[in-house]
Amino acid sequence: MERYYSLEVLEQHLSELRNTAQSIGFVPTMGALHAGHMSLIDRALEISDKVVCSIFVNPTQFNEASDLDTYPRTEDKDAELLERMGCDIVFLPEVSKVYPENHVARTIDYKGLDQVMEGSSRPGHFDGVVEVVARLFDIVSPNFACFGEKDFQQLAIIRELVAQYGYPIEIVPCSIIREPHGLAMSSRNERLSSEQRAQAAVLYDTLREIKSLVSVMNPDELAIWGRKQINQLDFCQLEYLEVAESKTLQPIYRWHECEAARAFVVARFGEIRLIDNLEIYRAEPTF
Ligand code: PAJ
Repeated sequence: MERYYSLEVLEQHLSELRNTAQSIGFVPTMGALHAGHMSLIDRALEISDKVVCSIFVNPTQFNEASDLDTYPRTEDKDAELLERMGCDIVFLPEVSKVYPENHVARTIDYKGLDQVMEGSSRPGHFDGVVEVVARLFDIVSPNFACFGEKDFQQLAIIRELVAQYGYPIEIVPCSIIREPHGLAMSSRNERLSSEQRAQAAVLYDTLREIKSLVSVMNPDELAIWGRKQINQLDFCQLEYLEVAESKTLQPIYRWHECEAARAFVVARFGEIRLIDNLEIYRAEPTF
């Protein structure tokens, strides 16, 4: 596997690959890689000739300075994992190269996707995500780019970015990878105590219970029921729990009015903010 720090050298190498008609799969990450990231690399390897993984802790998407400061940086371990997976290229740019002085951030019409959940909880977060992903797309120009459903709202916003700027990139959604007891894998899990890690399984348990109750409650009631379940626990603090339509991420009032719906949850375990979601409803196909 090759490590690239320089944009110019990477761009030169990728253009040589394109000249020999090789397709490029891209997995953008912020490092501290785990099995969730690896599933994206695996998917990219299946569908493309060469796979590029970027590791860049993007300062513009952190709305809390302490979160940026404490974000784990494990470059050598990450590179080792990627090498073992068969990833072809890891790209590790510096902040000043990603954002040179003349850099102008791309913006999109969010169509309301930034008004809910992560958008309202983390002001400016998605502007930073759009800015960095657009910049990385411009540098790497991949044929495919893999994103995890763990960050479902991010995935929806990236689809808008691609549609609005006409990027010829296929966005490939990848399922959430979980620990054996159900907790969604995250770089942040490393900072949980073993007790908190066990307790955090309650998020997925609650999402599954919500799914099992779809036939007996309407979306509103179910969201209220889910919030109550988590609010009664003393070991975590609920930030939000929403039931929303899967494409627009807007609230729904009746199940049959939508094609698919998901439940979304964010809670803090001590300082650690954990996020998860699950598809809870899909309309029967009508032929
Ligand atoms: P990061 O949190 O490192 O995640 C990189 C990718 O891995 C994202 O697409 C995320 O959804 C996916 N991912 C993380 N945990 C996962 C899990 N348990 N199962 C499946 N996929 C998982 O998301 C970002 O970085 C950044 O916002 C980025 C897109 C790189 C822009 O800076």
